[in-house]
Amino acid sequence: MESTYLNCLALFGVGGAHPGGLNLTRRMLSKEKMDASTKVLDVGCGTGQTSALISKQYQCQVTALDYNKMMLEKAKKRFQSMNLQIETQYGTAENLPFKNGSFDLLLSESVTAFTDISKTIPEYKRVLKPNGVLLAIEMMRETDISEKQMKEILDFYGVRQLLSEQEWLAHFEKVGFEKIEVEKVELHPDIQKMDVSNDYSLSKDIDPSFYKIFEKHHHLSILYKDILGCRIFRCSL
Ligand SMILES: C[S@@+](CC[C@H](N)C(=O)[O-])C[C@H]1O[C@@H](n2cnc3c(N)ncnc32)[C@H](O)[C@@H]1O
Repeated sequence: MESTYLNCLALFGVGGAHPGGLNLTRRMLSKEKMDASTKVLDVGCGTGQTSALISKQYQCQVTALDYNKMMLEKAKKRFQSMNLQIETQYGTAENLPFKNGSFDLLLSESVTAFTDISKTIPEYKRVLKPNGVLLAIEMMRETDISEKQMKEILDFYGVRQLLSEQEWLAHFEKVGFEKIEVEKVELHPDIQKMDVSNDYSLSKDIDPSFYKIFEKHHHLSILYKDILGCRIFRCSL
């Protein structure tokens, strides 16, 4: 298995693998109206921490999708062990296997930056109901950066782009989201470490090279603390 950042998250089974972790998710969701009739799609669900929280706390109908089979298996195990009826779906964010207007709420927690946003963002809009809401927690850049810095960040994280807030907004507006609220997420390098949630589901026999990826992640979080930022984008019509 290639020593990539995403494979590392999958092997360690990191739950809450987005800036701010579960605490940020809880706070973000507390502002939404949800009940047992709400249909939620968790795109890039990882090990399913957020899907489980939503299903348990709000009794919503949750679908958890990811294109990484190891992540999806770990999510399934979590749901089974918690006795939660959550549908798991293998698929890509670029080509969501759902009909138009299927969901009330779509979550993308540190996922979209890894994808081809020219396809993904229109897909989000397509599968949402007309009064649906997209909640996206996204990695972004706070300042202009050199080509060398950009390359180091894109290569290490495997993200396809590192957009500014304005660039993210332009992409959401382009597909027709009319109401977009942006919240800056305050990050401290220490909470960018992925051990904030204490929620791991480790695979057997992890190659030592993968531990180095955590070290490099921490190193880059500190090195680029004034460059790497995070926003919550709440998009609706
Ligand atoms: C940083 S992790 C975040 C996982 C989860 N949302 C969380 O907060 O714990 C990114 C996730 O997005 C998934 N992912 C990345 N690109 C994807 C794509 N094009 N389609 C579907 N899933 C994708 C990865 O497999 C991984 O599980």
